Amino acid sequence: MFNIILFGPPGSGKGTQSEKIIAAYGLIHLSTGDILRREISAGTPLGLEAKSLMDKGILVPDEVVVGMISSALDNNPGAKGFLFDGFPRTEAQSIALDKLLAEKNTAIGVVLALDVSRDELLKRLLHRGLTSGRSDDTNETIISNRIVEYQTKTTVVANYYSKFDKVVQVKGEGTVDDIFNALSSEINKRLSN
Ligand code: AP5
Repeated sequence: MFNIILFGPPGSGKGTQSEKIIAAYGLIHLSTGDILRREISAGTPLGLEAKSLMDKGILVPDEVVVGMISSALDNNPGAKGFLFDGFPRTEAQSIALDKLLAEKNTAIGVVLALDVSRDELLKRLLHRGLTSGRSDDTNETIISNRIVEYQTKTTVVANYYSKFDKVVQVKGEGTVDDIFNALSSEINKRLSN
C-alpha cells in the first residue's frame, strides 16, 4: 500500500492535482472537504454542524473529521493506497491518522506540500467564487480566515511529518500539467525504493 498526503493552503491545487494522481496511480481519494460538502448537501446533522463553521472559513472539530476518515478507511479494504486531500489539518489529526494506518499495517509514504503565494491563492479562490457556488469562496474575508486557519493550525502538520523525513515541497504555481509532473516524479522516486 502506498499512501500520500497532498498538503497545502486553500486554493493551492490539492483537489485539481488529486484527480490526476488518483487516475495515474489507482489510489482512493479521501478529501475531508468533499465529504463534508456531501454531508451538507444531504442535510445530515453532521453537515449542519459543519456548515456553520465552513461558511466562516473555520476548521471543523478534529473528532468529526477523524471519524469520517476512519469510516472511509474501513469502507475501502482492498485499496492500493489512499490520497489524503485536506486531511490531516492539525497535529491531533496527524497523530490519529498515523494510528489508524498503523492498525492496518500501513503508513504515510510521502507528504507532498504545494507551495503557492498568498496573492495567487486569493486570485484563484476569488475567481472560482464567481461560479463555484462554494460559500467559503465568496469573499476575501472568508478566504483570509481560511488562510489564517491554515497558518495557525495546519502548518504544524508539515513540521510533524518533517520529523519522519516525509515532506517534500513542490512549486504549486505554473501549469496544472507541469505541477503534476513534478508531483509524479516525487511519487515515482519513492515507489521505486
Ligand atoms: P477543503 O475543501 O479542503 O478546501 P481548502 O483546503 O480550503 O482547499 P480548496 O478546495 O479550496 O483548494 P485546493 O487546494 O483543493 O485547490 P483546488 O484544486 O480546488 O476545506 C473546506 C473547509 O472544510 C475548511 O475550511 C474547513 O472548514 C473544512 N475542513 C475540510 N477538511 C477539514 C479537516 N481535515 N479538518 C477540519 N476542517 C476541515 O484549486 C483552487 C482553484 O484554483 C480552482 O479554481 C482551480 O481550478 C484553480 N487552480 C488549480 N491549480 C491551478 C494552477 N496550477 N493554476 C491556476 N489555477 C489553478
